[in-house]
Amino acid sequence: MRHQASAAMTAEPLSPWNDWSGHALIVGGGGIGRALLQQLAIRAPGLQLWCGQRREATADEAPIAAGLQRFRLDVSDDDSLQELRQLAMARLTPLRLVIYTAGLLHEGPLTPEKRLSQVNRHDLERSFSVNAFGPLLVAQAVEAALPRDQPVLLASLSARVGSIGDNQLGGWYAYRAAKAAQNQLLATLAIEWRRRLPQACVSLLHPGTTETDLSAPFRSGVPAERLFSPERAAIQLLDLLERQSAAKSGRFLAWDGSTIPW
Ligand SMILES: NC(=O)c1ccc[n+]([C@@H]2O[C@H](COP(=O)([O-])OP(=O)(O)OC[C@H]3O[C@@H](n4cnc5c(N)ncnc54)[C@H](OP(=O)(O)O)[C@@H]3O)[C@@H](O)[C@H]2O)c1
Repeated sequence: MRHQASAAMTAEPLSPWNDWSGHALIVGGGGIGRALLQQLAIRAPGLQLWCGQRREATADEAPIAAGLQRFRLDVSDDDSLQELRQLAMARLTPLRLVIYTAGLLHEGPLTPEKRLSQVNRHDLERSFSVNAFGPLLVAQAVEAALPRDQPVLLASLSARVGSIGDNQLGGWYAYRAAKAAQNQLLATLAIEWRRRLPQACVSLLHPGTTETDLSAPFRSGVPAERLFSPERAAIQLLDLLERQSAAKSGRFLAWDGSTIPW
């Protein structure tokens, strides 16, 4: 409702989602995920917001958005994905918007590899589990809640470093390869849904370097004008998503709308 009030005062156009009803799901409660929830509460006041997150929410945390429902979701755990499937069927129908923001670049001993000798099977599997398999298995878990007769958006945060065509620097084997695999998996899903869910749009989005825990160890060389706050990243991503439609399904896009080579 705040968006409506400010739009009336400044005559800025209302979000096309202003009159959407149903449910929206953000997967991942990290920096960009939380900022997306805050912005969605403004742009899509008719959507019930849900956040599936691995970390238990603590009682003293500031509320993210009014009316938000949070639940435990570990995208690397099949039991947790099964609970999501049940929740989606029981309470998330119709699900109009899904944004997958869970991601793994470093955690404990797992760090991006600089050379071949640092590659190991365990870290490759962990990275693929969250960055590649997660978005596809989440799509599978919620598919039954997606309407056939209304527009649906499923976006997943990818990364420019997942582009094979744009790989100039090397390194970061697991993360790069897992994001490239995510791109292929969701591009394939976009083709399947063209037939089965003709109003669905699947998008792979690069948010730009954003000040979150994920980028913290690696952003010292990024110029200030290319480093986004989570709020700015979320606004840019939602501006871009508002311009997507089923006819544009299956694209790999940067925050500014430019196409990234696969
Ligand atoms: N930040 C950037 O500069 C940047 C650039 C390009 C692409 N991206 C992509 O943007 C997305 C969002 O990242 P961010 O910047 O918001 O990072 P972030 O703040 O670190 O958030 C990542 C979230 O992923 C969650 N996660 C990890 N493993 C999970 C699992 N098994 N199940 C459920 N959730 C899990 C983490 O949960 P916990 O809270 O429990 O740890 C964390 O909240 C990622 O896909 C990332 O690759 C980010």
